[in-house]
Amino acid sequence: MKKVSSFILSLVTLALITAGCQKPYSGSQKQFTRYDRQARELLARMTLDEKIGQMIQAETTGLKDPSDIETYYLGSILAGGSADPKAGNSPEAWTDEFETAMAHSLKTRLRIPLLFGIDAVHGHNNITGATIFPHNIALGYANDPELVEEIGRATAVEMRATGIHWAFAPCVAAAQDQRWGRTYESFSADPKICGRLGAAASRGLQGDSLAADDSVLACVKHYAGDGGTAMGTARGGHGLDQGDTRCDEDTFRRLHLAQYRQAIKEGAGSIMPSYSSWNGVKCSANKYLLTDILRGELGFEGFLISDYEAIKQIDPDFKKAIAISVNAGMDMAMEPTRYREFFALLKELVQEGTVTQQRIDEAVIRILRVKFAMGLLDPDYDYKVDRSQLAVIGCQEHRDLARRAVRQSLVTLKDDDKVLDLLRKAQSLLVAGSAADDIGQQCGGWTIDWQGKTGAITTGTTILSAVKQAVGPAATVWFSPEGDITAKADVALVVIGEKPYAEFEGDRNELKLSPEDIALVKTVKAGGMPVVVILLSGRSLDMDDISDYADVIIAAWLPGTEAAGITDFLALTPDGRN
Ligand code: BGC
Repeated sequence: MKKVSSFILSLVTLALITAGCQKPYSGSQKQFTRYDRQARELLARMTLDEKIGQMIQAETTGLKDPSDIETYYLGSILAGGSADPKAGNSPEAWTDEFETAMAHSLKTRLRIPLLFGIDAVHGHNNITGATIFPHNIALGYANDPELVEEIGRATAVEMRATGIHWAFAPCVAAAQDQRWGRTYESFSADPKICGRLGAAASRGLQGDSLAADDSVLACVKHYAGDGGTAMGTARGGHGLDQGDTRCDEDTFRRLHLAQYRQAIKEGAGSIMPSYSSWNGVKCSANKYLLTDILRGELGFEGFLISDYEAIKQIDPDFKKAIAISVNAGMDMAMEPTRYREFFALLKELVQEGTVTQQRIDEAVIRILRVKFAMGLLDPDYDYKVDRSQLAVIGCQEHRDLARRAVRQSLVTLKDDDKVLDLLRKAQSLLVAGSAADDIGQQCGGWTIDWQGKTGAITTGTTILSAVKQAVGPAATVWFSPEGDITAKADVALVVIGEKPYAEFEGDRNELKLSPEDIALVKTVKAGGMPVVVILLSGRSLDMDDISDYADVIIAAWLPGTEAAGITDFLALTPDGRN
């Protein structure tokens, strides 16, 4: 009897799934192909203009007119790293912006909702007050897939509170040269770690069902080889970012492709081809990479979104560049400001036969299938956001998770048990360095602004406040940004490190500490106190200049808003301080 009823139950479940009433677990590419028929039916009703529009993503701040969303049938909108809403950077303003854009897309003839994308690379990081998690390099050191998945979940929840449903994350680059300005976006130099954690992040962002209220579409980036570029091959002949990865196919597959297989298996629905080149050919122009390998070999059924204005880098003639990229397999173009021109040129290319109608149809089907899987094309889809959900942004539960992530990701570079013991018992502590009380610096790039910024840019716990909270009234805490040693403490905590940067702005020829940081450590040491250095950085830096002046050195990477994870790691408590 039991067996029969459970058999009937499974049949009912199957029927419900087949009828599209219940979306399946998002962990597979089948979640997209199962909407093939619906996507083709919709496609059959579309004009060429409507199809081309689906293939374009403009930027909120680049729109010449908000009604261009319906005029050009735009399939997507992004808010890039520095594209705050006109009404200011508050969760409410972001939610309004999302709703306004969605409303425009629903004014089109076929009412196809747009996709709203954002760089949520360490939390919903453009939004003031959101929980900012440590950057990937720190999570790679912790190397805990469950933790990364939980962070993906929390990020998705904070994103959906503002309505936004597409994260340009995770970055699965395996950074081979730490002088690269994007090293901190990479989990590791080891592609196996990048693959495992990239898959975990995709799983966390997309959740059990892409159609759920708290799931977002993941975008695995930057395909492929962005972490392997050679020094001096970047634009203008300097640096690494957007440069050329020079290696044979076996090496390329091992270091730069393997990680995509895992994320694709996990059901990641979009992938961003890289600005960079492989042996001189731009990835965004490489049919072998975008079509043969990605679709043919790795079974990717989602869609490709070009990087920000990446297509124009393929050829000085924009029309030619568009033809090359779309024919190579690019499905959607990130054209923040040139979307009108892109629209006209792609249309011409189709009319002239340089881009086939079949390629356009394939691209649009891929985009539509993802929209179906996300529930955007459900008859009862409602883009309106429940504003009571805004309370989850920066909520305690997420901040606690971020704090745990910080604790799990720190690295002791130089150890001295006696000094650490003293730190735990000290009656007085000197906290030195302006970075100790700078939430912006501890978050790094891709925080509120594209490049990040020093100063009180968002809410959270700085290292100084974490120390004060951890020791309570049981010890005196002095703070001196310049390292004033007139007040001699039992022990000094000196916070140094890199100022925020992102992408090519962070490329360096050498990885040394700044002269100011070296001087600060030396000054404090000259005061006769044992010195514990906390290093904030997006990569490993050369510590030779301070190693004789620091008793303990701890790499805290770019921990984000929850520095209490650092004091947890140091086991600072009020106990034993009397
Ligand atoms: C970056 C991408 C990012 C995009 C959108 C580009 O400059 O390379 O990682 O997703 O901008 O902001």
